[in-house]
Amino acid sequence: MYNLLKGKKGIIFGALDSKSIAWKVAERAHEEGAIFVLTNAPVALRLGTISELADKTGSQVIPADATSIMDLEHLVDQAMEILGGKIDFVLHSIGMSVNVRRGNHYTNQDYSFTKTGWDVSALSFHRVMSVLYKKDAMKEWGSIVALTYMAAQRVFPDYNDMADNKAYLESVARSFGYFFGRDKNVRVNTISQSPTPTTAGSGVKGFDGFIAYAEKMSPLGNATALECADYTISLFSDLTKKVSLQNLFHDGGFSNMGISTEIMEDFMKGFESKEEEPKKKDKK
Ligand SMILES: NC(=O)c1ccc[n+]([C@@H]2O[C@H](COP(=O)([O-])OP(=O)(O)OC[C@H]3O[C@@H](n4cnc5c(N)ncnc54)[C@H](O)[C@@H]3O)[C@@H](O)[C@H]2O)c1
Repeated sequence: MYNLLKGKKGIIFGALDSKSIAWKVAERAHEEGAIFVLTNAPVALRLGTISELADKTGSQVIPADATSIMDLEHLVDQAMEILGGKIDFVLHSIGMSVNVRRGNHYTNQDYSFTKTGWDVSALSFHRVMSVLYKKDAMKEWGSIVALTYMAAQRVFPDYNDMADNKAYLESVARSFGYFFGRDKNVRVNTISQSPTPTTAGSGVKGFDGFIAYAEKMSPLGNATALECADYTISLFSDLTKKVSLQNLFHDGGFSNMGISTEIMEDFMKGFESKEEEPKKKDKK
């Protein structure tokens, strides 16, 4: 490895199990020489396997619900105490839609669920940054990253209200990123990742089709969770100090594609079989 994060201190939100993108980021950050605390919602700590990751990376786990200012304040205080100083990097890897979980169609949302999903998935990013900013907890030239998905820009019908949450999240990255940059020399970005088989990802209706389609559309194929972790590490490193307020696509090229030959061939197969049917009848 490259020692890209040697001596750096971080907070990593959202490692639930070994499939989680945050889990891979933690493993890679550890390999690159960082020390960090892991955090997740109390319920996720009970259901997931984060203690394995903590043992493996020599980290402590601090429970925090990302919708609670009190939890976040406690988390940041504890993190600085455990790590012995200000924070160099933060990963926000949190997403959850109650409407998706309950199978509510986008056109027929339960708005109390919509509010909860927005609070957890989008407003939480503002809250995390606000606590870090007010406590002056970020070290100069530190880096804050949140994970997002391209449904913030383009229509993916089954992504449901998470599309709106991601649009808000990306906007918060720009708006807060301005103040964090101007006042503290800290950069803020979002990474827009390919569909990835994790607990959150698999909750989306028709997810296997989603993944297969993106794989065939992207010239480099889908980006894996580990590749996403590699990219995140580069954004935490000193090699990207002037990258800020960006939504960075990490998707094998998908976001700039119109159509690929593979998808076209699959599409035409459907046409050809329809065209063949009457021909067969003609022969009879
Ligand atoms: N999997 C994909 O296809 C994909 C694609 C692009 C972006 N993303 C984004 O990546 C991020 C990580 O998701 P993942 O795919 O690794 O799935 P995941 O299910 O492993 O991670 C989601 C995490 O959010 C945490 N969380 C939920 N409610 C919380 C709360 N109130 N407080 C604190 N944490 C809470 C969960 O406990 C979990 O650890 C999410 O923002 C997701 O939207 C995922």
